[in-house]
Amino acid sequence: MEQAAKKAKSAPTKANGNGHGEQQHQQQELWPSVRASFTAMNTVNPIRDLVDTMDIKGNPDKRMIALSIGDPTVFGNLPKSPASTNAVITALKSGKCDGYPHSAGYPASRKALAEYFSTDGLKYDLEDVVIASGCSGALDLAIEVFNRVGGNMLIPEPGFSLYKTLGIAKGLDMRAYQLLPDKSWEIDLADMEAKIDENTLAIIVNNPSNPCGSVYSEEHIKALIEVAARHKVPIIADEVYANMTFGRKFVPLASLAHNVPVLSCGGLAKRFLVPGWRVGWVLIHDPVNAFTENVRPGLLKLTQHILGANSLMQGAIPSMLKDTKPEFFSSVLSHLKENAELVCSMLEQAPGLTPIMPAGAMYLMVKLEPSMYKDIKDDRDFTQKLITEQSVFCLPASVFGSPNFFRIVTTIPKAQMMTAMERIIEFAKAHADQ
Ligand SMILES: Cc1ncc(COP(=O)(O)O)c(C=O)c1O
Repeated sequence: MEQAAKKAKSAPTKANGNGHGEQQHQQQELWPSVRASFTAMNTVNPIRDLVDTMDIKGNPDKRMIALSIGDPTVFGNLPKSPASTNAVITALKSGKCDGYPHSAGYPASRKALAEYFSTDGLKYDLEDVVIASGCSGALDLAIEVFNRVGGNMLIPEPGFSLYKTLGIAKGLDMRAYQLLPDKSWEIDLADMEAKIDENTLAIIVNNPSNPCGSVYSEEHIKALIEVAARHKVPIIADEVYANMTFGRKFVPLASLAHNVPVLSCGGLAKRFLVPGWRVGWVLIHDPVNAFTENVRPGLLKLTQHILGANSLMQGAIPSMLKDTKPEFFSSVLSHLKENAELVCSMLEQAPGLTPIMPAGAMYLMVKLEPSMYKDIKDDRDFTQKLITEQSVFCLPASVFGSPNFFRIVTTIPKAQMMTAMERIIEFAKAHADQ
């Protein structure tokens, strides 16, 4: 406070605005530094922190290729579906999407989502859907509705860094459970179970996974649900990459959860290629009536913090879901699969690198063996030197909690992906310890 007070200076001379050009001197009152909240001060974004410390200038002789950005629109090669454009235009022209929607979303949009995600064994009604501002907003609602002082939540490692960002800012203890690279990134269920205690408020599961690109089998999903059931802990299922699979069928976790309540979080961002539209949702699945008394009304109350998500984009949901052609989704998936296969086949020639073939989402992880190189310490060192020498930017997976891996985004145009892989091979050979 003293520091801040010392720094305060007299206000600069200013015109007083009365039209006579009269100058006034004012002594500014001394103010202490105003404190920001616990939430603000404890909000940490590991990816931002890392990027801020990296030197991302690159080799001036080579154009930078960013394999680091989880936004499928940045290269312009994956345009959104015409059905999405038409849906927004229609919503805009209707004049019916300009006011405040219900804070949990327009009933027609909630109903459309409920129908879209209902399957033979899983039925959602309008009341089971809460529309949020992006899947991030949905995750924020889901984590907040369970939040309690002294509580903890379980999160995957490697995992999407937002879980930690949100949980820690809310004062929660976010405990990592391990995913197993040698088992296509399945959950180490013994590790998960060992991390549960009487203060565990929820288990966060991400399938398909960012950063791994893994997709769980039905058996594995059943097994993880069993763990949650044994300890009576609800699940938050982050399924923002739902149906974005090419190696294996996507199975919604809630469809197998007959004895565990689940909040499934999703959004339009990735599958519909419109992350900036900020549309997400929470689907409430409660086969054991554990959410009726508190969690359901709690979620609705929380939506009132922002008076609901963007009305225009919500208004577009029903026709986007109805009119987007299956070929749109399948062509995006083919692109993701072909790029993943290209990476896996090319990186076989790179000493010290083992790519793990994904089955979904838009990422894959590459394992790195620093002992194979003469001068590479770890994932950060590898990715930094790769930028400097080859102008290829991959995210070191220590930002996801897994050092000695790095993540590659598979949305980029194929020709650029090929060039990037050639450069990585050249880099790995140049640094190999032979
Ligand atoms: C696993 C995962 N969940 C949630 C999100 C956030 O999605 P949205 O852009 O809809 O907020 C992302 C974004 O990258 C993600 O990878």
